[in-house]
Amino acid sequence: MKSQEFVKRRQRLLQHMGADSIAIVPAAPQQTRNRDVEHVYRPDSDFTYLTGFPEPEAIAVLIPGRKQGEYVLFCRERDPEMETWHGRRAGLEGAVERFGADDAFPIADIDDILPGLMENKERVFYSMGTHHDLDQRMISWLKSVRSKARSGVHAPGEFISLDHFLHEMRLIKSAAEIQAMKKAAKVSAEAHSRAMQLCKPGLMEYQIEAEIVHHFMNNGCRHAAYPSIVGGGENGCILHYIDNDMELNDGDLLLIDAGAEYDGYAADITRTFPINGRFSPAQKALYEVVLAAQEAAIAAVQPGNHWNHPHEAAVKVLTKGLIKLGILKGTPGKLIKEEAYRRFYMHRTGHWLGMDVHDVGDYKLDGEWRLLEPGMVLTVEPGLYIAPGSKGVDKKWWGIGIRIEDDVHVTRSGHEVLTSGVPKGVAEIEALMAGVQPKRRRKAA
Ligand code: GLY
Ligand code: MN
Ligand code: MN
Repeated sequence: MKSQEFVKRRQRLLQHMGADSIAIVPAAPQQTRNRDVEHVYRPDSDFTYLTGFPEPEAIAVLIPGRKQGEYVLFCRERDPEMETWHGRRAGLEGAVERFGADDAFPIADIDDILPGLMENKERVFYSMGTHHDLDQRMISWLKSVRSKARSGVHAPGEFISLDHFLHEMRLIKSAAEIQAMKKAAKVSAEAHSRAMQLCKPGLMEYQIEAEIVHHFMNNGCRHAAYPSIVGGGENGCILHYIDNDMELNDGDLLLIDAGAEYDGYAADITRTFPINGRFSPAQKALYEVVLAAQEAAIAAVQPGNHWNHPHEAAVKVLTKGLIKLGILKGTPGKLIKEEAYRRFYMHRTGHWLGMDVHDVGDYKLDGEWRLLEPGMVLTVEPGLYIAPGSKGVDKKWWGIGIRIEDDVHVTRSGHEVLTSGVPKGVAEIEALMAGVQPKRRRKAA
């Protein structure tokens, strides 16, 4: 992301905050994996959105109208010995020169400096309840400002969560953000195609996962956006299955939900395909229902439609399909009202997508589903999961779990599917798995 992008974001936030205010935005703390081993550091999305600063132990402070500069960054100082052990640091100079801070101070000095910056401000923009330790320190900074009351210093009276404004900003993606998401989507789609091509009975689920992660990394996406779900057969009926440690059986389907992260932005794709390359009649029948539901839901992604439109479209097609296959009995209207489909379709049709895979942004405004707007990106991911032993359901459907998930960008004229690079039609999947070059799918409107 270019530095100008971060400048624009900070300016918008500064404008929104208004005079006599201060915003305090921390980087996420590092997390221990075991003993002295830490998880790979992934900075907090809000902090990264505003700063692009990639290091832990950093706090960004925004102060509208501050004469010496409105953007102050507290961060680690350069330290040759620590850098020899743990890696390079930007240091105070780097914070200013490379990351656009107006002023940078050592994070170790924050207790001495920050209370002074809070003096005589009316409002503090700070998201309480996310970082416990920092919440405690915030209270001590506030006490320190209050203790100066007799010398005429005024302490802030209002604490406001940053979340609402910042998350509304993050919900509408800029052109640069869409570019990053397209790259994550492209690499992820290729990884799914690779999995289809390499899949065969007898492999382990984790071997397919390894191929996917290999493709992510080999193409500049150092991390998956979330742990990959690679579930053969009835494992596909476990929504968040990540054990990925079972053998892939001839005759079963494989459900893969995997997406790469590129420059901090996620892709989120699910495909379901036959391990041996050919759908059985029952698998195909159920698959066609999910695919029709997904296509109907994608068609409903239009500016002016509300958030729940795609879900309603999917539920309608799924319910009718389940009736046709004899899995549900009754009339569509009544079954939809009773939510009879929930036994086989227990999640919603999508979520916002962005820096976080389940991205920020409200789904309802004033109690009503919000309208879709250009720049929003959402997933469309209906599924059907017929658990083994499902009572009253013909055995031929047992253990079939299917989900099809694409990432869809709302545009001014309709939508753009970012993840169309990986096939999802029965014939296209079978052709790819048989080594035949797939025909290109028609582009969505
Ligand atoms: N991969 C998580 C989801 O599809 O929501
Ligand atoms: Mn998803
Ligand atoms: Mn997913």
